[in-house]
Amino acid sequence: MNKVETSFLHKNQFGDDFLWGVSTAAFQIEGAPDTDGKGRSIWDVFTSQKGKIKNGHHALTACDFYNSYQNDIDLIRELNIPNFRFSISWPRIMPTGVLPVNEAGIAYYNKIIDSLLSAGIEPWITLYHWDLPHDLEVKGGWTNRESVSWFSAYVAVCVQHFGDRVKNWMVINEPSVFTGAGYFLGIHAPGKKGITNYLKAMHHVTLATTAGAKIIRNHIPDAHIGTTFSCTHIEPATTSSKDVEAAKRVDTLLNRTFIEPILGLGYPQADLPVLKKLNAYIVEDDLNNLSFDFDFIGLQCYTREVVKSSLLIPYIGAELISAEKRNVISTDMGWEVYPPALYQVLKKFNAYEGIRKIIITENGAAFPDTLKNGKVYDIKRTHYIQDHLEQILKAKKDGLAVDGYFVWTLTDNFEWAEGYNARFGLIHVDFDTQQRTIKHSGLWFKDFLS
Ligand code: FCB
Repeated sequence: MNKVETSFLHKNQFGDDFLWGVSTAAFQIEGAPDTDGKGRSIWDVFTSQKGKIKNGHHALTACDFYNSYQNDIDLIRELNIPNFRFSISWPRIMPTGVLPVNEAGIAYYNKIIDSLLSAGIEPWITLYHWDLPHDLEVKGGWTNRESVSWFSAYVAVCVQHFGDRVKNWMVINEPSVFTGAGYFLGIHAPGKKGITNYLKAMHHVTLATTAGAKIIRNHIPDAHIGTTFSCTHIEPATTSSKDVEAAKRVDTLLNRTFIEPILGLGYPQADLPVLKKLNAYIVEDDLNNLSFDFDFIGLQCYTREVVKSSLLIPYIGAELISAEKRNVISTDMGWEVYPPALYQVLKKFNAYEGIRKIIITENGAAFPDTLKNGKVYDIKRTHYIQDHLEQILKAKKDGLAVDGYFVWTLTDNFEWAEGYNARFGLIHVDFDTQQRTIKHSGLWFKDFLS
């Protein structure tokens, strides 16, 4: 293979200890929704409902990772990627969400872990990447306070079975996204709506995050424990005090609400008054149980948001001005391509004293790739990744802490409500044949990591 040299970036500039990886999530790649005793997840149910997913797409096969994991692990090795982040499907190992355990599910993840280790790839497990067992949703899902105990029992099963070989753990993926989209807006599973569902889910997920982390620490004393947050750089549309205040509220909601309690700072109720309604669900010594001393915080940043004040939007009094309306370059998700956002969020999160280490656990872009003569020339994605890496270097030069970068994602996959239209992979997938083709971005990353 010829060298794919398109930038002056060099891996050495990031330091020997910098962690390089690629991230995935079970529901987006595995398929096999009822194979080997797996129970249904809220996403299995949601995707089976009419009109929920663009073009009626479903994830019955997805990338067929359940069957073809070995091939994909070989590709990770071929790309020289040393760390692989994947999630465990809770209903695959606990079909109803609670005991007993499905041994076939445990055996499946054991095969993945063993295969990664024998390929010299470090496994990074996300315990919850949105696929709650449906049977628990019937009981209220994350709106039910019992979810904290259900989740704790599930975490205990995972660490007992995988903790001998897996040292890197992430408890919950992007709580603000799945509670916001799934319990407030109803556009993601389980499709619930409203402020009450949202706030209850928010509090229980936060309690579950720290409860899960404590269980990992107790079972695996030398574990490297983190949890991941979506974050975005927020800017007011104008310098008017109304827009500036609106931007502050959006920043509080999107960037602060979930991390601050975990850092022992409590919910940021002063800057977002609707959060005071949470007090109705905070009982006994909850406030003492909301924090945990994480070894690292995973930040997942894709874009920035520009905000204006709007009386029409309840609770937040603010509106996001879309990239399309602003007439700026954007991805297939409609997200503005704005690499300095990564520098800005690193600066913002570095300011929290309680954060020990920051790893960028997701960053990447969806563009309309085309396969021509066996090749995918996705130069926009290559540049997107390079430009974001430049921002990491700038942050490092300015003394900001950042210890790793994981690309979202390995192969094109099932992008939630967007179905298969949004292609984020370093590797192209033909969903009719499951044929993989390493894209230009993947070849560049391989070269960079060599
Ligand atoms: C993040 C999710 C991930 C993927 C990317 C594009 O919000 O964690 O599963 O969908 O966005």
